[in-house]
Amino acid sequence: MKKLLVFVLLLSVCFSFSALADSGITIDNIREYVVGLDEPMELRDGTLRSIINFDNAATTPALQPVMDEVNEKLAKYGSIGRGFSAKSDYSTELYYNTRDKVLEFVGADPEQYTVFYVNNTTDGLNKLASALITSEDDIVLCTRMEHHANDLSWRERCKVIYAEVDEQGRIIYEEIEHLLQENKVKYVAVTAASNVTGYVTDVHRIAKMAHQYGAQIIVDGAQIVAHRAFTMTGETPEENIDYFVFSAHKMYSPYGGGAVIGLTSELNEHMPMFYGGGMVEIVSDTWVAWKQAPEIYEAGSPNYPGVVGLGKAIDILQEVGFDAISAHEQVLIRRLIDGLKQFDNVIIYGDSEDISDRVGVVTFNFSDVNSMILATRLADSGTAIRRGAFCAHPYVWRLMGIPEDELEFFIDCIDGKTPGMIRVSFGIYNTEEEVDEFLQILADVLPGARAETASIDNDFPAAY
Ligand SMILES: Cc1ncc(COP(=O)(O)O)c(C=O)c1O
Repeated sequence: MKKLLVFVLLLSVCFSFSALADSGITIDNIREYVVGLDEPMELRDGTLRSIINFDNAATTPALQPVMDEVNEKLAKYGSIGRGFSAKSDYSTELYYNTRDKVLEFVGADPEQYTVFYVNNTTDGLNKLASALITSEDDIVLCTRMEHHANDLSWRERCKVIYAEVDEQGRIIYEEIEHLLQENKVKYVAVTAASNVTGYVTDVHRIAKMAHQYGAQIIVDGAQIVAHRAFTMTGETPEENIDYFVFSAHKMYSPYGGGAVIGLTSELNEHMPMFYGGGMVEIVSDTWVAWKQAPEIYEAGSPNYPGVVGLGKAIDILQEVGFDAISAHEQVLIRRLIDGLKQFDNVIIYGDSEDISDRVGVVTFNFSDVNSMILATRLADSGTAIRRGAFCAHPYVWRLMGIPEDELEFFIDCIDGKTPGMIRVSFGIYNTEEEVDEFLQILADVLPGARAETASIDNDFPAAY
């Protein structure tokens, strides 16, 4: 009888754990959980329709369970790390426990790494740069693939050298090694995935090179976190990532917030250039006793909804599974690229044959169509795409073949005349049917966009 009781108890524990771990969300039913997919929006001609959202690299829509979690936890909200109340204790515990979840999500050893919360990737990279860069002569090695967040945050503080990309737009790894040999590099700052071509970087290979030459590696994770499983731990310790930064709003939790994960001992040797409450032990008239990481990097009142949403988004992405996400994305990319290739004069950027190292971003142009005209017509037909240089100007100019000495010409140009591409970027909920519908819309609007392009006074190539 006693044995039976133990067995029943064990069974019920197992059941409640699996119920907790699995709420039944999969890549096949994820659309049911995305907020606003059917929301009718008024287009410029007054028609109402739901939007095909292919702008997920910019930001992702909320997931209903993330919203529900934030709303539920707001009922228990109190000041974090400052208050004396049950609500304050509850919120503080949740806030701290989510740090562990983040560490686990990025495969970082809690013995070595800590997490501090930030507003987004840009904020995180700037905070890191403000702490780690101690002299204008420090050398940071970036690549020409970087988003401005992982380029200008260094460029404006110290000396930056760049590894080039090849003709397809992939990073040239040999050049990274060469630059490491030739320069006393302090940090290598590289993106885990491009927001222009979707290329996934072999960051562990770069980590090994960086460490061999006495540098540390900082990885911009903005475009990887919602697309591929990522671990900071390499196959050997030399391949470990030292710092990783990402935004929650790109992973279906648009409440602000993001995280920097870094080596605790290193973070404690530095000091961010942001000051305020929450980061100090004692302040006297003349001196300050600072806290350690992570608190010293989190001056000011924390963003509770941002952290709660981030924690829930991690749960859901892990439940859907990155193998399923990645496989689904490959199908969408292939279908879109194959469809685009049917159009005359299309230019597809990046490698359109081997897409295995690409997350769901596809950029293109037509050699005889102004991209601003086309983007406007696509938006007027109910699609959400992006047009421009995607805050990665040097990379986009390279892919478009625009030389450095032509760029000044564009400084004062109004929007339609600045160079740009069209970008489709997929989320986990997009479907093949949406790709087909998008291709049909493209076929419908192209002739008009072509005619309008031909009619404007254009003194530079139409794809601009
Ligand atoms: C590769 C990459 N890095 C950094 C960022 C900046 O992210 P956030 O705007 O969330 O700070 C982006 C945004 O698109 C990005 O794509």
